[in-house]
Amino acid sequence: MNSNAPLTIKHIQQMKQQGEKIAMLTCYDAAFARTMDEAGVDVILVGDSMGMVVQGMNSTTAVRVDDIAYHTRCVARGLERALLLADMPFGSYHDEATAMTNAVQLLAAGGAMVKLEGAGPMIAIVKYLVSRGVPVCGHLGLTPQSVHQLGGFKVQARETEAARRLIDDALALQAVGAQMLVLECVPAPLGHEVSATLDIPLIGIGAGADCDGQVLVMHDMLGLGSRVPRFVANFMQGRESIGAAFESYVSDVRSGRFPAKEHEYA
Ligand code: KIV
Repeated sequence: MNSNAPLTIKHIQQMKQQGEKIAMLTCYDAAFARTMDEAGVDVILVGDSMGMVVQGMNSTTAVRVDDIAYHTRCVARGLERALLLADMPFGSYHDEATAMTNAVQLLAAGGAMVKLEGAGPMIAIVKYLVSRGVPVCGHLGLTPQSVHQLGGFKVQARETEAARRLIDDALALQAVGAQMLVLECVPAPLGHEVSATLDIPLIGIGAGADCDGQVLVMHDMLGLGSRVPRFVANFMQGRESIGAAFESYVSDVRSGRFPAKEHEYA
């Protein structure tokens, strides 16, 4: 594979098969996207975390599809190699027709894949989207769009029964055609088990070192976050440029230096 050729979902899946760790970051504009792309970040997510880190709100739930589409267009202009993933915001995929219309808008903006949170009723939505040609990434564990139901940003699936359910949900998403999964804020042994159980790549955020890849919110890993969860490392520390911070992140994810034990939940 030409190292500068645009990455496809197939390449990302091959990375899992070959035991090569996947480095993913969130991004919201073209300048940062170009810098991440040059640093070798494999997957870039236009996340609805923008509600908190860009728009200054205290949750992600007010982000709209037009916001994600606008930032996806901006990020797409900065990329040559990385795969671009666009988040479907809260309320944009509650029924099949709405999900399809909104996914089409995000793919038209430049996304190669869309991400949506949860399982249960979302399994049918994922199946519908995939069967109509939309590549989908799932998101389980701490699902920030449900923060009000979850009672805050907390570690999920600590109990055996909840961990079992999460594994079943991950398998159900894979079975209906999800091609990648993000797993947020769960004990590291569960991250290990989900990665070993699934054929599709598992990207962890606070889910331990044994996931197939890692993702962080860009502002957090640059030391700009006001609420810094345990699973975040500040990659700006000791570095002279933002590009160097992104390069260190890629190198630490690839080598397995990040996340370290101190970033994991037991
Ligand atoms: O919106 C976002 O940034 C995300 C990451 C936390 C994975 O979904």
